[in-house]
Amino acid sequence: MIARGGSLDFVDFMATALYEPQLGYYARGPRQVGRDGDFFTSVSVGPLFGELLAHRFLAEWKQAGSPRDWRIIELGAHDGTLAADILTAITRLESSAMDGLEYAISEPLPGLQAAQKITLARFAGKVRFVTAPAELAASPRYGIVFGNELLDALPFQVVEWSGEEWLECRVGLDADGGFCWELVPVSAPRMVHALGRLGQDFPVGYRTEVRPDFAEFLAPLVHCLEAGLMIWLDYGFARPEYYHPARTRGTLRTFAKHRAAENPLQEPGQKDITAHVDFTAVAEAALELGCQPGLFSSQGVWLTRLAQTWLLAQEGNPDTLGLRQFQTLTHPSHLGGSFHVLEISWNQEREALSSGDSHRLAL
Ligand SMILES: C[S@@+](CC[C@H](N)C(=O)[O-])C[C@H]1O[C@@H](n2cnc3c(N)ncnc32)[C@H](O)[C@@H]1O
Repeated sequence: MIARGGSLDFVDFMATALYEPQLGYYARGPRQVGRDGDFFTSVSVGPLFGELLAHRFLAEWKQAGSPRDWRIIELGAHDGTLAADILTAITRLESSAMDGLEYAISEPLPGLQAAQKITLARFAGKVRFVTAPAELAASPRYGIVFGNELLDALPFQVVEWSGEEWLECRVGLDADGGFCWELVPVSAPRMVHALGRLGQDFPVGYRTEVRPDFAEFLAPLVHCLEAGLMIWLDYGFARPEYYHPARTRGTLRTFAKHRAAENPLQEPGQKDITAHVDFTAVAEAALELGCQPGLFSSQGVWLTRLAQTWLLAQEGNPDTLGLRQFQTLTHPSHLGGSFHVLEISWNQEREALSSGDSHRLAL
């Protein structure tokens, strides 16, 4: 592609390295997560994570009046393990919620969708598979959308501060035919807009990452439901912490065989490429779409609140395996501190009513 058309922006390079059919890192089936893979996630810790998510989903469903027909939409479901943990927990905790539940998985990669169908065979009839949210039917109109470690896997641009302006780090070819960085001034208006929000006190050579397209990513998810809640769990920060002037090399990492490295131009397709999530940018995109960003919390605090009933049940008869999972998921030195959770809600009917009200008031 580079030999034919010139340098690629990093979004295109990363999308190709991770998702190109046949060749991309994730396109070759589910072998990345877990002990024999390249990295662990909260899902690898054990089924308690899915059970606690089920508690959150059921609380939200009850608050919405326990509608018979509702839907959970998962993105980045990998091999379907988390979906199976959640469906198992909902069946046990509140079996009536299963009656009208559609669990939809949006998965563009055929290899991963095939693995999900095998894992979820015992929930056949409950689970629906689509390759993009736009394919979902018009109802049920109420639901929950979520993803664990999905946003960090969305392609991003790499930029560097020259002291006077932001430069975009594109990928070209060196004299030996290997990949190399090519720096050019940022010109795309949405990048200029996104970078304008980062502040100005950066040292020369400060390199970081930006995802200016969260609104485009969220829009089809918001549009397929009249009212709902989105929950994004991932490593990342609010903007002042992410773009702190001392974080001079950004958060871009590659992962292979549980080893982190920092050069994404080496062995593309053989390793994961990721960067932390700027949760402020996600919240801004939600506001642009008319949604309300709600709670933002560390994963540790969020899960500990959800685990109250489960923790009380441990008294006298402790589930040692479960408690170990709880500790790994919530302890600040494990996954509880660097992982964060952002909840976003929307209700088009209520917004139509309230904008009607303000119209009346204005009149
Ligand atoms: C780091 S893995 C996380 C897997 C799993 N959620 C977990 O926590 O173990 C990221 C996943 O997001 C998927 N992904 C990336 N972009 C996506 C998109 N636009 N829609 C659905 N899945 C996507 C990738 O294919 C990959 O399976």
